[in-house]
Amino acid sequence: MIHMKCKLSHWFKKKSPSVTNIPKHIAIIMDGNGRWARQRGMPRTAGHRVGMDRVRDAVAICLEYGVPYLTLYAFSTENWKRPEEEVRFLMDLFEEALKSEVDKLDQQNVRVRFIGLRHNLRPSLRELMEQSEARTSGNTALTLNLAINYGGRSEIVTAARRIAEDVRRGEVDPEQIDESFFGNYLFTAGQPDPDLLIKPGGESRISNFLLWQIAYTEIYYSTKFWPDFKKADMRDAIFFYSQRERRFGGIKRGESI
Ligand code: IPE
Ligand code: IPE
Ligand code: MG
Repeated sequence: MIHMKCKLSHWFKKKSPSVTNIPKHIAIIMDGNGRWARQRGMPRTAGHRVGMDRVRDAVAICLEYGVPYLTLYAFSTENWKRPEEEVRFLMDLFEEALKSEVDKLDQQNVRVRFIGLRHNLRPSLRELMEQSEARTSGNTALTLNLAINYGGRSEIVTAARRIAEDVRRGEVDPEQIDESFFGNYLFTAGQPDPDLLIKPGGESRISNFLLWQIAYTEIYYSTKFWPDFKKADMRDAIFFYSQRERRFGGIKRGESI
């Protein structure tokens, strides 16, 4: 587990023009909203609301650094286990946010996409999701994937089932199925795997997020709760990434045996 203890953002901000190693895809498990609120004697839902401000910050930082893909975990396939009132609040919040934020996202040249299973979401939310996707489909500065009713295992099973159907129809030969073929059946088809996964909230677990895609992702854990994870923290995470040496199973570049 890695914790960044020092504040590097100031230094990084000054040095940023010389940092070339910017992630192409950042994924964030937006965790800790409930604990943030409880610490302040507020209902958990207050944390979810403040968490929305951090979504705006994360988008702004990606645009500032030219990160082309951002994936945010907003609601997992397991989050239905929560009290009905909290689930309802979250669904209302997603609808409210889509209504109020899509204009700005569109102006910022952000393409909005949703990953996850849609069929058991309420129709009014599904409709807003489709409208947001259609409205922003031509935007090119940043692809923002919002993971709602998303689970890594369910994504893999869904892909396997679709491939099996295509095999049964005679459209796919099982010999064709390799890693890149499989990846094209996932919600993130055509997108690069995340380079950097940010996990605030103080717990070092993946909680069923992007299980396939994070095979070689660098992971940045933070003890801060998501509502406290501000622009400077995003900069620290990008700085952390820029210092990583990735080997993907190989050895250091130029190193002899
Ligand atoms: C993450 O914060 C937001 C969602 C899962 C919707 P939590 O609600 O999980 O907050 P904690 O982890 O209980 O503090
Ligand atoms: C992960 O957080 C899901 C989201 C942030 C949307 P959880 O709070 O649901 O995960 P666990 O239960 O602590 O692993
Ligand atoms: Mg949590």
